[in-house]
Amino acid sequence: MAFAEAGARVVLSARRADELERVRGRMTAGEHLVLPMDVTDYAAIPGKVAQVNAHMGRIDVLVCNAGVSQRSRFAETTLDVFRTIIDVNVMGPAAHIHAVLPAMRGQGSGHIVVTSSVAGKFGIPNRSAYCASKHAVHGLCDALRAEHAPENIHFSTLIIAAVKSSVNANAFRADGSKVGKDSKWGRGSGMDAVAAGRLMVKKLAKREEEIVVVADWRAGIPLYQQRLSPRIVYRRMARLAQSKWWS
Ligand SMILES: NC(=O)c1ccc[n+]([C@@H]2O[C@H](COP(=O)([O-])OP(=O)(O)OC[C@H]3O[C@@H](n4cnc5c(N)ncnc54)[C@H](OP(=O)(O)O)[C@@H]3O)[C@@H](O)[C@H]2O)c1
Repeated sequence: MAFAEAGARVVLSARRADELERVRGRMTAGEHLVLPMDVTDYAAIPGKVAQVNAHMGRIDVLVCNAGVSQRSRFAETTLDVFRTIIDVNVMGPAAHIHAVLPAMRGQGSGHIVVTSSVAGKFGIPNRSAYCASKHAVHGLCDALRAEHAPENIHFSTLIIAAVKSSVNANAFRADGSKVGKDSKWGRGSGMDAVAAGRLMVKKLAKREEEIVVVADWRAGIPLYQQRLSPRIVYRRMARLAQSKWWS
């Protein structure tokens, strides 16, 4: 919605076509395209990219936002759950970036954005696979930024926290079932997703390498503590892991 407000022609993509149509209905009118897909269907991605290129003529910005989280101890979590999180959060962006790079190189410009999290900057208990996946996208984008800088292709990672969404409800438990319930941020106290989107688009226009949108200052504290002394954060997270209210 924020990209459309800024005048972009937007391709909306996720698995649920009805939800994509609902969002398109709320967007500033434009030549937008709804393209349902599963980001783990890697073989289908080059075909989808070709469809976008045929429809739009070019791809200026790719936003890899699809993601899934976790609420379980590593030792109890099945490797299937661990792998699914990596498949969506790491292989999904890698496959999309791989598919759009030829077009961006051909046109001599591009901006690739991958949604990370504060969990991409420090380890958080009960989110081992999620943390591993979000740390991985920083490594991926940092390496690709260096490789493609001479080609005018820019890479940004979005470090976000506490934006209202269904991320908690959609998070995996140890056995692969979904939590099914929103967190307090997801329900009420988080930042409105549209407001967060507007802020992100504003910052993305500057092509910043890392963009921080942390809606609740408490979620942002470890981000800054970690820069001063990682050990403070390690100890804080160890206490959090033993806390009864942490899930
Ligand atoms: N909300 C926050 O405070 C927060 C904090 C840190 C990071 N993040 C990150 O922000 C991103 C968006 O999450 P959210 O908070 O908006 O959570 P969400 O409400 O659970 O939304 C997840 C989105 O990803 C799509 N998706 C999930 N699996 C997919 C798949 N296999 N293929 C295609 N699309 C898929 C979902 O659409 P379908 O179900 O229709 O496919 C949905 O649009 C994620 O990368 C998440 O890790 C969010």
